[in-house]
Amino acid sequence: MTEALHLMSREPLLEVRGLTKHFRIRQGGRPATVHAVEDVSFAVDAGQTLALVGESGCGKSTTGRCVLRLIEPTAGTVRFRGTDLGTLGAAAMRSRRRELQIVFQDPLASLHPRMRVVDLISEPLQIHGWPANEIPDRVDELLALVQLGAEHRSRYPHQCSGGQRQRVGIARALAASPALVVLDEPVSALDVSTQAEIVKLLVELRQRLGLAYVFIAHDLAVVRQLADRVAVMYLGTIVESGPAAQVYADPQHPYTRALLSAVPIPDPSVERRRRRIVLAGELPSPIDPPSGCRFRTRCWMAEPRCASETPALLPRDPGIPDHAVACHLVGTTANRSPGPVPAPHDAGATE
Ligand SMILES: Nc1ncnc2c1ncn2[C@@H]1O[C@H](COP(=O)(O)OP(=O)(O)OP(=O)(O)O)[C@@H](O)[C@H]1O
Ligand code: SF4
Ligand SMILES: [Mg+2]
Repeated sequence: MTEALHLMSREPLLEVRGLTKHFRIRQGGRPATVHAVEDVSFAVDAGQTLALVGESGCGKSTTGRCVLRLIEPTAGTVRFRGTDLGTLGAAAMRSRRRELQIVFQDPLASLHPRMRVVDLISEPLQIHGWPANEIPDRVDELLALVQLGAEHRSRYPHQCSGGQRQRVGIARALAASPALVVLDEPVSALDVSTQAEIVKLLVELRQRLGLAYVFIAHDLAVVRQLADRVAVMYLGTIVESGPAAQVYADPQHPYTRALLSAVPIPDPSVERRRRRIVLAGELPSPIDPPSGCRFRTRCWMAEPRCASETPALLPRDPGIPDHAVACHLVGTTANRSPGPVPAPHDAGATE
């Protein structure tokens, strides 16, 4: 293999560098800036799943939308198969979008209420120029792929259950054979048993079709089963990223430790010893994020320099180069300090 070919094969499917998104808004009649996403970088290899995890408002959906260029980033680059999507015109981007798809949290809001399932699944095929005579067979194939019976073809979204609607949303995303799907909290609106079914389906589809996912979720429990890599977001920035097994087994950032402390552990003897970390204070506004480390107003280990110096996302240990953490205290004994515990009346709280 020539050097050039070798380099090409090592290139990630998706590479996001320095992604930043600011929204200009008016607040109380004055202009203001929402710092929704700040200098976010990550990569996803073909067939792999990156879980993007963090609490409400931390910028997960904005990141997902920038990746698909449904909204334009303020700064940064999104490369897909080595092409900087920011350099593509509208027509070239439309054809690229065949390979880059999104599934939304709420299928009822994202599916047209007056379209039948068969038309909802046909629509993306028509948009991407699928031969008209092949569309009926392709729709049947997609219904089978998401395990919906032929009886669903002529139903409207409101005649389907929440799980069935999400299967339709997935079939639409898969219609034109994408390589990467952004799943924006695809199971958050579903009950627990339906969540498990849809996650199982997504795992099977990934394997069968060789898909890559960016799986957006609020908590680390949902993505445990399918994440290859995890990136934890807090107030628009990635505070920790690495191989999922590494992040779950040995979380380094205090925010990741707090998030993980809320995840039940299947082994009852380990579960009994699980210690909840309850974060103090409110999530600050992205209109006026804290200086230095954005997590410092809720960090039980914050030092004076945390207010003046922004910690870079750096490998935690030269021996584990792809596990990166943004905290001044990584590798110090102070970082092992246990977090605040729940007050007795508040033991059921998740954060
Ligand atoms: N079009 C917009 N105009 C102004 N502010 C916006 C816009 N879209 C998002 N925001 C703000 O940007 C921040 C990040 O929002 P985003 O929807 O990306 O968060 P999220 O992590 O997906 O949250 P959730 O878990 O609730 O879906 C929030 O403060 C949100 O209010
Ligand atoms: S940099 Fe400082 S405030 Fe931020 S997480 Fe580390 S110790 Fe806490
Ligand atoms: Mg969101």
